[in-house]
Amino acid sequence: MEVIVRPTTAEAVKLTAQLIADLVKAKPNCNLGLATGATMEAVYADLVKMYQAGEVDFSKVTSFNLDEYIGLAPDDPNSYRYYMNYHLFNHINIDKSKTNLPDGLAKDYDAEGERYEKAIKAAGGVDLQLLGIGRDGHIGFNEPLSSFASRTRDKALTPETWKQNSIYFNPPESMPMSAFTMGVGTILDAKQALLLITGKSKAAIAAKAIEGPVSSMVTASALQLHQHAVVILDEEAAANLTMREYYDWVFAHDRKWANYR
Ligand code: PGA
Repeated sequence: MEVIVRPTTAEAVKLTAQLIADLVKAKPNCNLGLATGATMEAVYADLVKMYQAGEVDFSKVTSFNLDEYIGLAPDDPNSYRYYMNYHLFNHINIDKSKTNLPDGLAKDYDAEGERYEKAIKAAGGVDLQLLGIGRDGHIGFNEPLSSFASRTRDKALTPETWKQNSIYFNPPESMPMSAFTMGVGTILDAKQALLLITGKSKAAIAAKAIEGPVSSMVTASALQLHQHAVVILDEEAAANLTMREYYDWVFAHDRKWANYR
């Protein structure tokens, strides 16, 4: 796992967007694993700006989102399909038929999980999986105790996640209590994982995920087992990290990061 701390949220976001754009430039037909949530809105705004400036072409990209609420239609403003169209897909030249999310209206949950797994496999696997972290340590909607071998399936949300996200629903009680999510195993299969953590409300869970023991109680800690995982944090989210000097040293000296400093 590589950990990079940037001085501001905007710089953490910019680096995240740059890494995604650079992959698309290097491999125009790549499979991007995408995430939703408040943290990602700024990443997508940066990618839209890069697209508008003619710096990146998404026409051959395929995307797979991490998750979708069960029971929400694609045109529901709280669905993740709606979020993706609103924040990214409507503003870039991605072919919408190549953008994939679990179907929130699927009735056979097991079949939907299998369909999604097969679609990812048929596309050749995810090249880069973008991730956020929940306050309970989840990646995707893999709530505490999710198996590290889990695949796309339906998952009951924790009260903490429900509290974190129900503020977007009107009324809050209308937020679904379960979602389809890629499994931890699905996420670990991605060739690269890129986790963005910003804000002081995430400082405690960031330290657990990055420097704590690998535990299904904090599913983001599974990324410690991934061969190519990068975590980007802003100063506030990095506040509780103990190996900070080393992370800064690596970013300043490793040739891999020469173009990003
Ligand atoms: P947030 O969500 O960006 O809205 O904090 C992240 C997550 O729960 O994965």
